[in-house]
Amino acid sequence: MIKNMQNYKYKFSVAPMLDWTDRHCRYFYRLMSPNVMLYTEMVTLGAIIYGKFDYLKFNLKEKPLSLQLGGSDPKQFKLAGEYIKDRGFTEINLNIGCPSARVQKGSFGACLMTEPDLVAECVNVIHRETNLPITVKTRIGIDNEDNYEFLYNFIDTIDKKSICDTFVIHARKAILSGLSPKENREIPPLKYDRVYKIKEDFHDKNIIINGGIKNINDSIDHLKKLDGVMIGREVYQNPYILTEIEREFYKSNNSPTRKEVVVSMMNYIEDELSNGAKLNHITRHMLGLFHGVPGGKKWRRFLSENSYKKDADLKVLENALTLTEVNV
Ligand SMILES: Cc1cc2nc3c(=O)[nH]c(=O)nc-3n(C[C@H](O)[C@H](O)[C@H](O)COP(=O)(O)O)c2cc1C
Repeated sequence: MIKNMQNYKYKFSVAPMLDWTDRHCRYFYRLMSPNVMLYTEMVTLGAIIYGKFDYLKFNLKEKPLSLQLGGSDPKQFKLAGEYIKDRGFTEINLNIGCPSARVQKGSFGACLMTEPDLVAECVNVIHRETNLPITVKTRIGIDNEDNYEFLYNFIDTIDKKSICDTFVIHARKAILSGLSPKENREIPPLKYDRVYKIKEDFHDKNIIINGGIKNINDSIDHLKKLDGVMIGREVYQNPYILTEIEREFYKSNNSPTRKEVVVSMMNYIEDELSNGAKLNHITRHMLGLFHGVPGGKKWRRFLSENSYKKDADLKVLENALTLTEVNV
């Protein structure tokens, strides 16, 4: 019998997406949804420990925020924990799903599905160092390890040997050679039933489903069986869906209009520009805001063609707004 606990706090989340869900993007999303869980892009332990920049920088308004880590060396997890522990993240998520060649070279990401004992150790080390909840994001399998038993053993080992009680499962396997990361998000078929079965077998764990979910109705269906839904690409292409999610899952009825979102972003952008940010680094995440409404294409084109220009400033946004229906 499927036992639906219905009490997991973060029923809805936006997937970690490298190069997409950076801190500007997350600030923008937060304006439309106060409640969804946001994830950072994957940050490698090496970048945290040895990097020249502060890869952990974020605005506290982005919370609840999960820091996604990529790594596989318990010693490095311990070292990185020192840098992470007082930064204010809501939780830490370990990436056991990324199929890229670069990530495999570092022996982390999806290839760690064959090493659940090591994953459990990493979970415990980073938890000890930071005292934060630790979650794991994984696939349903890799290469020929593509059966329910393999996924079961992976979850079971981590469950038994670590403090992790929340698993995000991208419902397709990863093919570690021959497919690019993009193809690995499209070609292996989605098998939602495997994720449902995991929930049946681990009914006291939080199981969050991810992969190919594009609308509220499908999310509602998944939530009848599972604890959470994570959406990536659809939110990026159509970010205003976050207001719908907020209304449906968190019963908020005072969503900002798209124009109000832009006006709030202008205040943020003004501060960021004065600190050296470039306009298009922020507005590139906003291209889809008017997706599907009159003027949406003109908005997208105007921002794309003008935000990158030298000295581009808030006037670009003001002008782009005049091309849209202001009250949507
Ligand atoms: C541009 C891009 C970058 C991604 N980067 C990451 C990442 O850093 N960490 C991760 O766990 N998954 C990453 N993913 C995978 C997503 O988190 C998600 O699992 C995948 O896109 C399937 O969800 P969707 O169909 O809702 O987009 C990335 C996806 C995209 C499109």
